[in-house]
Amino acid sequence: MTGVKKINHVAVVVADIDAALAFWQDALGLELHHVEDVPSQKATVAFLPVGDSEVELVKPTTDDSGVAKFLAERGGGMHHLCFEVDDIAAKLAEMKAKGVRLINETPIELPGRKMAFIHPKSTGGVLVELYEVT
Ligand code: CO
Repeated sequence: MTGVKKINHVAVVVADIDAALAFWQDALGLELHHVEDVPSQKATVAFLPVGDSEVELVKPTTDDSGVAKFLAERGGGMHHLCFEVDDIAAKLAEMKAKGVRLINETPIELPGRKMAFIHPKSTGGVLVELYEVT
């Protein structure tokens, strides 16, 4: 079994990052590391480290992404849980062999990382992301 190292991040979809920071930063007390435009995700993301993990506040920047649809339908909320793994290709193959439904059969390669999503139908309703640092 390929190793799962840690929870890399928890992603929360928000309509307005500044408004969301009133809770996550000002009331809860997390530190805002930085805010970044992520064109590949059609989103602006605020990164708030917590120990070895992060909370990511994700605001869609277009109307046509999965995140935008999630915001329109549910008004935001917890979107996905991301696990950092040693070997994402091996982990996807292991899961597929166990009948897990994958959204990305092969990892999406980005600078410094590979990522893939697991279908909520196989996880009890939680969108799960796998992440390998490269
Ligand atoms: Co993520």
